[in-house]
Amino acid sequence: MFQSIHSPFVNPTPSQAELEKWVKTIAEHCQPEDVKWADGSQEEYDSLCQQLVDKGTFIKLNPEKRPNSFACFSDPSDVARVEDKTFICSRRKEDAGPTNNWMAPAEMKTILEDLTKGCMKGRTMYVIPYSMGPVGSPLAKYGVEITDSEYVVINMRIMTRIGSSVLPYLSTEEYVKCIHTVGAPLQAGQEDAKWPCNPTVKYISHFPEERLIISYGSGYGGNALLGKKCFALRIASAIGRDEGWLAEHMLILGIQNPEGEKTYVAAAFPSACGKTNFAMMIPPTSFEGWKITTVGDDIAWIRKGPKGRLYAINPEAGYFGVAPGTNYKTNPNAMDSVKANTIFTNVGITPDGDVWWEGMSDTAPAGTIDWHGNVWDPASGKPCAHPNARFTAPANQNPVLDENWENPEGVHISAFIFGGRRSTTVPLVYQSFNWNFGVYMAATMGSEMTAAAFGEMGKVRRDPFAMLPFMGYHMGDYVNHWLQFGRNLPNAPRIFSVNWFRKDENGKFVWPGFGDNIRVLKWIIDRVKGRAGAVECPVGWMPRYEDMNWDGIDFPKEEFTKIMTIDRELWKQEMLSHEELFARLYDKLPKEFFFMRELILSALWRSPEKWELEPEVA
Ligand code: GTP
Ligand code: SPV
Ligand code: MN
Repeated sequence: MFQSIHSPFVNPTPSQAELEKWVKTIAEHCQPEDVKWADGSQEEYDSLCQQLVDKGTFIKLNPEKRPNSFACFSDPSDVARVEDKTFICSRRKEDAGPTNNWMAPAEMKTILEDLTKGCMKGRTMYVIPYSMGPVGSPLAKYGVEITDSEYVVINMRIMTRIGSSVLPYLSTEEYVKCIHTVGAPLQAGQEDAKWPCNPTVKYISHFPEERLIISYGSGYGGNALLGKKCFALRIASAIGRDEGWLAEHMLILGIQNPEGEKTYVAAAFPSACGKTNFAMMIPPTSFEGWKITTVGDDIAWIRKGPKGRLYAINPEAGYFGVAPGTNYKTNPNAMDSVKANTIFTNVGITPDGDVWWEGMSDTAPAGTIDWHGNVWDPASGKPCAHPNARFTAPANQNPVLDENWENPEGVHISAFIFGGRRSTTVPLVYQSFNWNFGVYMAATMGSEMTAAAFGEMGKVRRDPFAMLPFMGYHMGDYVNHWLQFGRNLPNAPRIFSVNWFRKDENGKFVWPGFGDNIRVLKWIIDRVKGRAGAVECPVGWMPRYEDMNWDGIDFPKEEFTKIMTIDRELWKQEMLSHEELFARLYDKLPKEFFFMRELILSALWRSPEKWELEPEVA
């Protein structure tokens, strides 16, 4: 078996030899047919895609419509992240904290050793050297993912930098060891499933002290592309705690005004709450001369740099984006990013060999195939594409990719924005009073659950910093890390809360969202630069109607008031649920939090029952 390894190392250094030895050990244990090192070349990519086409996993899309692109349907049991099967196996339970599933490393390894013995039978084992961040950047970190899934190799090539260019760094730099298997060994003569996975047993396990990830049973996105959530957020957050930086579930965007002034902000919204859209938005035509550019759409690694400023890089190289809702009106840049060289998972396929999903257009062409592989009946009440259907597209296809997106030093962050999906309670935008209040606001952020993870859709849960599913250590320690981080900055970025998702009595979104979100972003930037007005409200600073730019839109003051009102009754509930979170984090909760909570409560009680933006008092 091992003899067939095509090793790129001719005369290995000690660390190269160590890597080879590790690969050999895993191969002996998992017993694949064959072992291949991914070189990251186009030929390798093409041949893996062809292999999946031959197997029936990939459907080649019409090259005239969607060149070099493929669609596939996952097993119906394997469509999203599995948070209840995700474990932080730190040595001590208290290091994982109350918001993570924990198992002792030895116990988890016993289970996994058993499950993975011979788990790659009948399959090829791929070894993927990869870099998170530009190869060679002082801010980049390296990993090696072992996987028995061609889909994973293909997607990793789009989402990260893989292959031969990374190898030299593995002999000088630390790297994260990642083992992934779909958990579906093949018996001799048995035909493989189109989407092999283990429909019942899944473990997404992290060993932060060892910088080790083992993922069993799923082939999907965040469960299987281990550079993304597992490394760049869970393991990296633990590294960041140790080394004094931050790994965040944040987009990074640049905004340039007509005078040519460029500002970068980072924004954390929970899964499927608008990061990709915000990072690529096109301003309305009335915002002539304004430009938004994308540094990243999902993950930011943030460090202190020169002059006590914060600098961020996007460790990824592609977008694993939500398909439903994406169209030429809401997100033209995403539509252009997926024009070619894209992998689509769980979308519909039209009779002419293109893709379709809910929200792409009003109706699907007759005869469109749904994500189960059957002709879709629009009257069935079931969606054509899975609500968490995704596209995987290279970042360099984004027409508004920022010129600094691969800058090895990162970009200077001037503001942090936090936003959940809330149909009530939380206003369109407000600025926190200061860094401490901002950390409080981010830590207590709530959001309605989406299809990005298995769970109760629509239910509001506390999702501190949009990191609840992605924390690699104790949430209380993390909140303290944030507080301390700001204390050490001479001019900390201002912190804002946004909510695009408030609904009216009829359940319709009041705020137009998407490109019009620049109106909110402009106010944010102007606040940062000390140019915009605001009034104090019980939870922070708010724009008055006249503090925002309404050129080119008919959005009357009454509508604005609707989504800016602070309703004391609802906020009482909100504060109670902060309490619930605090009770879980109690022993690690910063002292400041108790006082801030009291201040907000008394501000709410001393304000009108419905705190509304009043016209200016003479
Ligand atoms: P992850 O990749 O899961 O981390 O998600 P994300 O935060 O990048 O979310 P994304 O931008 O993909 O948006 C998720 C869904 O929300 C899509 O269906 C979007 O169309 C929708 N959405 C994004 N921005 C807005 C907005 O401003 N208003 C409304 N109403 N919907 C939005
Ligand atoms: C998310 O769920 O926040 C994602 C998609 O970005 S996944 O990589 O599947 O986690
Ligand atoms: Mn995400």
